[in-house]
Amino acid sequence: MIKILFVCLGNICRSPMAEAIFNGLIQKYGLAGFIESDSAGTSDYHIGEPPDSRTLGVVHKYQLKLDHQGRQFTTGDFNKFNYIIAMDESNLSNIQRQLPKSADNKKILLMREFDEQADSQSVPDPYWSSEDGFEEVYQILHRSCQNFINYLKKNHPELAQ
Ligand code: 4NP
Repeated sequence: MIKILFVCLGNICRSPMAEAIFNGLIQKYGLAGFIESDSAGTSDYHIGEPPDSRTLGVVHKYQLKLDHQGRQFTTGDFNKFNYIIAMDESNLSNIQRQLPKSADNKKILLMREFDEQADSQSVPDPYWSSEDGFEEVYQILHRSCQNFINYLKKNHPELAQ
């Protein structure tokens, strides 16, 4: 099983939305038995909380599924996951600061490396924005997850069907 962890700051907006979109695409492509994803936040602000209601609004609008409670990223995640995907550069440096010496730095990537339309390295934080911000984040994450799955297929021949 290839395990992916999406990471943002609060784990109530961007990373749980990425998890829902990614898992929906994995289902659609018949890859559910081969790849799975989870999400976490670098902060402890929303531990145990459900995703933001505006995230859930997008999840329902696009008929996705999401059952997640906020949790904080831990150093143990470096061993549990094959890829750690940060939503922005601040998340990335927070993750890298906790990196144990033994960890493989190559598996920590930025989500927008997979967005061919990216005008920035970061998925914008929609927490302080209106619902439009959440729709924009959905479009970014949908494009990025699609391309990330293609990247995984290329790098893991066992996924080719
Ligand atoms: P997220 O958004 O990192 O995409 O989950 C945020 C959620 C909460 C806060 C900041 C960003 N906050 O400061 O509480």
